[in-house]
Amino acid sequence: MAANEVDVYANEEKRTLELGGHVGFDSLPDQLVSKSVAQGFCFNILCVGETGIGKSTLMNTLFNTTFENEEASHYEQEVKLRSQTYELQESNVNLKLTIVHTVGFGDQINKEESFKPITDYIDEQFENFLEEELKIKRSLWNYHDSRIHVCLYFIAPNGHSLKSLDLVTMKKLDSKVNIIPVIAKADSISRTDLDKLKIKIMSELVSNGVQIYQFPTEDEAIAEINSSMNTLLPFAVVGSTEDIKVGNKMVKARLYPWGSVQVENESHCDFVKLREMLLRVNMEDLREQTHAHHYELYRRCKLEEMGFKDKGPDSQPFSLQETYETKRKEFFIELQHKEESMRQMFVNKVKETEAELKEKEKELHERFEQLKRMHQEEKKNLEEKRRELEEEMNAFNRRKVAAETLMGQALQGCSQQPFKKDKDKKKLFMFFFCHIFSFFFSPLS
Ligand code: GTP
Ligand code: MG
Repeated sequence: MAANEVDVYANEEKRTLELGGHVGFDSLPDQLVSKSVAQGFCFNILCVGETGIGKSTLMNTLFNTTFENEEASHYEQEVKLRSQTYELQESNVNLKLTIVHTVGFGDQINKEESFKPITDYIDEQFENFLEEELKIKRSLWNYHDSRIHVCLYFIAPNGHSLKSLDLVTMKKLDSKVNIIPVIAKADSISRTDLDKLKIKIMSELVSNGVQIYQFPTEDEAIAEINSSMNTLLPFAVVGSTEDIKVGNKMVKARLYPWGSVQVENESHCDFVKLREMLLRVNMEDLREQTHAHHYELYRRCKLEEMGFKDKGPDSQPFSLQETYETKRKEFFIELQHKEESMRQMFVNKVKETEAELKEKEKELHERFEQLKRMHQEEKKNLEEKRRELEEEMNAFNRRKVAAETLMGQALQGCSQQPFKKDKDKKKLFMFFFCHIFSFFFSPLS
C-alpha cells in the first residue's frame, strides 16, 4: 500500500510556474552559508611519511603558523599515530583542524604491519561516527567529526621509484581515505631527476591499481584548473618556516650557500599548487568525498556484516523491521542449534566418563582377584611350611627322649662297675659323646 503511494507521487507530473514577484527563497544559499559559518568547519589531515621527511614543517608552512612540533625518534618499536586538534580562524571562518602524524613510520626492520595502525586509526574514526549515527538520541550537529578527510602521503625524494612500503601502504589506504601523494624535500633533487621520479611514481601507482584522489572536474568553474593539476601529481613540495628577504619582500625559503629555494615560487616547487588544491579549491570536495564515498563504503560493509541489507532474496526492498525480524529468527535458530549441540556434547561427555569409569572398575576388580589368588597361594605355602616345621619338632622331641633314655642307661652302668684305669674311663666317655652327637645332628626323619 505504502509502495503504491510512493509510485503515485513519483509519476506525478510537475508543473513549472512563473512567480509574480520576488518571494525570497533565493536567499536559501546565503542562509546555508551563514548557518555553516556560524557552526564552523572541521578538517582532518593525516600525514603519512618516514621520520624526519618534513611532515611538521610542511604543515607549519601550509597554515603559516607553528603547530606543536615534537620530533620522533628513529627507534619506535611500532608505528604510532599522534593527533592534535587546533582552532584556527581566518576572516570570520572558524576551522577546527586536526593534524594526525605517523610516528616511527618506516623505522622498523619488519615493515609488513606498518600500514595496520594507520588503517585501524581511520576505521576507528569511521566507527565512532557510525556509532553516533546509530544512536537513538543523536547529536551529529555538534559531534566532533574526526574522520580523516585527506592523507598527504610523503614520498622520499631519494631513490628512483616508490618503496614497496609506500606501495603497500597506499594500496591499503586508498579505499579508506583521499590520498594526495607529495614528493617531500623536493629541493634535494634536480629538476631532471624530479620529472623522471614523478613519471615513475605515477606509472607504478597505476600499474599497482592504487587509487589516489583526483581533483573533481564536474564543476565548470574549477574543471580546468583541477584537470591540469591532476596531471601534475605527485606534487613536489618544499617546506620552510624561515623568512628571507628577496628583493624588497619577505618570503618563505630555504637558504643554501649557493642560493635559496623559495617555497611559494612555482618555478622552484609545487607548494603553491598543493595549498591551492588542498585548502582553497577542493577542501569541501575532500570533506564530501570522505562522507559520501569512503565513510559510505565503511558503513555499508559494517551494516552488511551485521546482517542488514536493502533487498531480500527476491530483489524486493527489505525494510529495517523485516531485517530485524529475520535477524531475530536467525539468532533464535542459531541459539537453539547451539543449545542442542551443547546438550549433545554433554551427553557424549557423560557417556565417555561412564565408559571410562566402567573400564577402571573392571581393572580394579581384576587386580583384586589377582591379589586374592596370590594371598591364597601364600597362605597355602605357609601352611605347608608350618606343617613341615611341626613334623621336624616332633622328630626332634622323639630323638631328645631317646637320647635322654640312652644317657640314663649309660650312667647307670658306670655306677655299677668301677673303672680300673683312666684309659677305660676315657673310652666310655667318647662312646657316649659320639652317640649323643649322632642323635642330635643326624638328619631328622
Ligand atoms: P618527525 O615528526 O620527527 O617524523 O619529522 P617530520 O617528518 O615532521 O620532519 P620535520 O618537519 O621535523 O623536518 C625534519 C628536518 O627536515 C628538519 O631539519 C627540517 O628543517 C627539514 N626539512 C623539512 N622540510 C624540508 C624541505 O622541504 N627540504 C629540506 N631540504 N629540508 C626540509
Ligand atoms: Mg614531525
